[in-house]
Amino acid sequence: MTFRKAEWPRRLRSAEWFGGTSRDHIYHRSWMKNQGLPADLFDGRPVIGICNTWSELTPCNAHLRDLAQRVKHGIYEAGGLPVEFPVFSTGESALRPTAMMYRNLAAMDVEEALRANPLDGVVLLVGCDKTTPALLMGAASVDIPAIAVSGGPMLNGWFRGERVGSGTALWQMSEAIKAGTMSSEDFLEAEQAMSRSPGSCNTMGTASSMASMTEALGMALSGNAAIPAIDSRRRVMAHLTGRRIVEMVKDDLKPSDILTREAFENAIRVNGAIGGSTNAVIHLLAIAGRVGIDLTLDDWDRLGRDVPTLVNLMPSGKYLMEEFFYAGGLPVVLRMLGEAGLLHRQALTVSGQGVWDEVEGARNWNEDVIRPVDKALTAQGGIAVLRGNLAPGGAILKPSAASPHLMQHRGRAVVFEDIDDYKARIGDEALDIDETSIMVLKNCGPRGYPGMAEVGNMGLPPKVLRKGITDMIRISDARMSGTAYGTVILHTSPEAAIGGPLAIVRTGDMIEVDVAARRLHLDVAEHEIVARLAAWRPTVQAPASGYARLFHTHVEGADTGADFDFLKGRRGNEVPRDSH
Ligand code: FES
Repeated sequence: MTFRKAEWPRRLRSAEWFGGTSRDHIYHRSWMKNQGLPADLFDGRPVIGICNTWSELTPCNAHLRDLAQRVKHGIYEAGGLPVEFPVFSTGESALRPTAMMYRNLAAMDVEEALRANPLDGVVLLVGCDKTTPALLMGAASVDIPAIAVSGGPMLNGWFRGERVGSGTALWQMSEAIKAGTMSSEDFLEAEQAMSRSPGSCNTMGTASSMASMTEALGMALSGNAAIPAIDSRRRVMAHLTGRRIVEMVKDDLKPSDILTREAFENAIRVNGAIGGSTNAVIHLLAIAGRVGIDLTLDDWDRLGRDVPTLVNLMPSGKYLMEEFFYAGGLPVVLRMLGEAGLLHRQALTVSGQGVWDEVEGARNWNEDVIRPVDKALTAQGGIAVLRGNLAPGGAILKPSAASPHLMQHRGRAVVFEDIDDYKARIGDEALDIDETSIMVLKNCGPRGYPGMAEVGNMGLPPKVLRKGITDMIRISDARMSGTAYGTVILHTSPEAAIGGPLAIVRTGDMIEVDVAARRLHLDVAEHEIVARLAAWRPTVQAPASGYARLFHTHVEGADTGADFDFLKGRRGNEVPRDSH
């Protein structure tokens, strides 16, 4: 089957700007021609935007201008006119308070840029964590033909013979410093080894997870997720993507044709199989919201339960993205899920074919990197959604990154009111805490932090680390980095800053966690919980003005994707005519 919805040739959207002899048409063409574009490029061919998140402040995407050139080659070859433009780049490593605060801003930027300009289709150049969902969200709301190409991961990091995984090694080494098993000098030396090439994080962190989600959703060409940034095949992928978007415009193949419920279900299962980031939960919920698909946390729990973790990558496993690529990459995982009956084989992709047509022949070249089902890393790789009186809206945990002995546990809460309280007291040797305690962090949800920072995997107290303990249960309304690990319960909803039950937990309360039963229970008498909630008063004030005000006023909960309430849904590509 090959998708074709429209006949070609036909008059395109861009012809409203360029396709005529009126004063306005001349105005639009003439100014474009100051870039040296020949007249015949305005002959009705597809005008393709290259929506670029390149920025030197987003180091993971700093090589995307080179990739854009490759995309342009492909677009020209296929008979299109490429036009590159920048959008807000959400760099994970530098933006404060957290890049997540700006995902929706970037999505608005993309949406408005696509709608307001003379574009028939768009290539989305993405890489660092939030750049991928932001561009998919914006493109989905406009619904012109769109295809993503990722920047690709960095090469493996190596330090003294050991793999150094982006982020994951940082968390491990900083804990080792606190435990006294690593020197500061060694930590500084390892810094250079962590990031030794262009590209995004080389672990199965959020960037690699979202690249995999993009491919699993069908919004990128097969094989896009894993090719290293500096491998020549990444440039080939960009080139082929440029060719393909022109054909997609001719066929009128749009995000609404691809982003179906089946596509999201495929992506959820893939996230389980790759040991993907908890951040993918929020982002997929938000993307689904843009196309009117009622995806819920329960879908994540239900669809992930019977998916084994097959990909042996940090933070859940041993290897890095470079090795995942050499082993065959995501097409192998999709093929294995298809053989296990865990894939909607007919789900349409940007290729115009069903996903099974793309991956059926994918071969696994390293069965330690991509494990066969009977040697899976963990039997249950999905996201566990816990509920109870502590999280009526749900909270999530990644079993593949958690400790089996903590999956059922009753412990005494040690509460931190916010991240500053945590930082001030965690190193205090007098803090009444041991490895059986449950660390609770409040006011780090979408409104609390603001932006919902990746602080949920709070480091353990030094006095516990010195005992050789490496994991404790941690509960918060925060997110955690996709490169992080541990028995960390996240996204507790409703968040504390709006009066969710997390807000009234006190040090000394007992909490019960039972992952198998999907239960998160505050063992405090019901009448006491009611009294505490009645007495609760907000401590997080709305900012007076600016984007922070917009964010605080309109951001929704993590359990539905933390999009803005007024951005949900598809608004299409219609735009009022100009008035020159
Ligand atoms: Fe950009 Fe990890 S910080 S991908």
